[in-house]
Amino acid sequence: EKGGYDYFMLKEIAEQPRAVADTLLGRIDAAGSLTLDEVRIPDSVLREVDKVVIVACGTAYHAGLIAKYAIEHWTRIPCETELASEFRYRDPILDQRTLVVAISQSGETMDTLMALRHAREQGAKVLAICNTNGSTIPRESDAVLYTHAGPEVAVASTKAFLTQLVACYLVALYLGQVRGTKWGDEIRSVIRELSEIAQEVEEVLETMEPVRELARSLADKNTVLFLGRHVGYPVALEGALKLKELAYMHAEGFAAGELKHGPIALIEKDVPVVVVVPSPRGRSVLHDKIVSNIQEIRARGARTIVIAERGDEAVRPYADHLVEIPPTPVLLQPLVATVPLQVFACELATARGNEVDQPRNLAKSVTVE
Ligand code: M6R
Repeated sequence: EKGGYDYFMLKEIAEQPRAVADTLLGRIDAAGSLTLDEVRIPDSVLREVDKVVIVACGTAYHAGLIAKYAIEHWTRIPCETELASEFRYRDPILDQRTLVVAISQSGETMDTLMALRHAREQGAKVLAICNTNGSTIPRESDAVLYTHAGPEVAVASTKAFLTQLVACYLVALYLGQVRGTKWGDEIRSVIRELSEIAQEVEEVLETMEPVRELARSLADKNTVLFLGRHVGYPVALEGALKLKELAYMHAEGFAAGELKHGPIALIEKDVPVVVVVPSPRGRSVLHDKIVSNIQEIRARGARTIVIAERGDEAVRPYADHLVEIPPTPVLLQPLVATVPLQVFACELATARGNEVDQPRNLAKSVTVE
């Protein structure tokens, strides 16, 4: 069943290019436009949406955080992403023009289900992004966009996350397409680039041996910190979550800009810090800022593990370990930047003798609130 891999997680990491390609299948037409007819919310309703609220837990929540950047940029509709477990308890403001997007691999997560029930009671439309056909969350939603990751067995989510991201981008781009924003050309070019992204995920997978080696060398550390900015910030959170649940290590993700507001006090000699660097093209101001963050933490003795776009020479002098990823449009970078963090956590867990597929205290699907 594990297809020759030692763990389901390794198999599922390797399946990501296929999972991404399958989730795009049939959703981009010959002219390069998106067709999401299966989402039964009529375009006329989508045109009227004035707020998007995303609810999810854990890894799915991280996908939702990334979606916020994409939705607000491409559609100019205000979007918030909220932990499903917090949502209904703060009495959120929702109405018929609110689109609630509930993201869940299993489709059975109780916190997310309760959030969507609350949203529907307030009259909001709910779109589920889900990996499990016929599960409770899509059944109780107004519409569903299935991710086609195939069954995910390992407790730690990997391929489901990448396909949730793809689905989120599809929703963002589709909303942009239907509503016709000024980003029309960019939307068309990103759709084109999305159709090539599976190949880029494959490329990352082929270059993971140094990451595995690095992970093994850190097996006796107590803490690993993760920094990112823009869409790299949720990627940092996801990298930290993977490490907590698999390696049982203290791991934290920070927005790099927050470093000076507190977390920099944690930096001491030899603390491994993983930094997700935004593309030097596009939002280059952010790139420059993160390069100076890397310099700052390195000056304080941190061991810098830098994930950066291939050809990004500016980071090289400050990287104790450089992990190169293929260039992508700025907003799509999480699809390639997350993969090394999954491999890193999986290998560290193995090196520490942990059970990779069934980490202690965790269940694949959390059906209690
Ligand atoms: O099935 P769901 O996507 O609703 O699950 C949500 C979280 O429980 C899940 O992502 C969890 O955080 C994973 N174990 C992370 O790897």
